[in-house]
Amino acid sequence: MRNKSPLIVIQMELGLMANFTYVVADPASRKAMLIDPADDKKSILNKIRDNALLLSGILLTHGHFDHTGGAKAIASELNIPVYLSAHEAKFYIPNCPHLTFVNDGQTIPLGDLSIECLHTPGHTPGCQCFLINQNLFTGDTLFVDAIGRTDFPGGDPKALFESLQKIKQLPDETMTWPGHNYGATPNGKLGDLKKSNPFLASARIEDFLHINE
Ligand SMILES: [Fe+2]
Repeated sequence: MRNKSPLIVIQMELGLMANFTYVVADPASRKAMLIDPADDKKSILNKIRDNALLLSGILLTHGHFDHTGGAKAIASELNIPVYLSAHEAKFYIPNCPHLTFVNDGQTIPLGDLSIECLHTPGHTPGCQCFLINQNLFTGDTLFVDAIGRTDFPGGDPKALFESLQKIKQLPDETMTWPGHNYGATPNGKLGDLKKSNPFLASARIEDFLHINE
């Protein structure tokens, strides 16, 4: 289900690695999800309270510490589920309660909205993006001007290339919200990134693999 209701998006740059933590919410019900919480519970919960939102879960794009550092404290305090790709289980399991494993194409309700999980391996085996009403939260799979590293354990450049081809199938109007501020702007339309991001612009894996040489 891909409905057209508006989505509240709050972008915060937090933590030692300056990663983007997001709060997304359904304006009708005020129900919210937290995406990739950095280790800054106070800032995150203050933001949720100040916007009168009801946090109902945590979405993890992958298991790296900078994207999961706040999950344990927040999930414990609020007793809410933490969604992680089932493919990440063998590689990076964050230390937090209420872990719930999800698969490619699975949807998670958020009030009147629906969150679609898209498995996009490459940076890690269990990287996933979240698609909500033409907003795509890409974690470390895709940045505005770059892509995630593939030299960590479980990284696979060929898998990342295939994941980018999957992302490119989405409409150009899709707003892309990355996991770090690696670009001229903190977010961007996918149609623009298809032209300006050399990794996304590469149509052939041979070109893609040689960009950094
Ligand atoms: Fe990462």
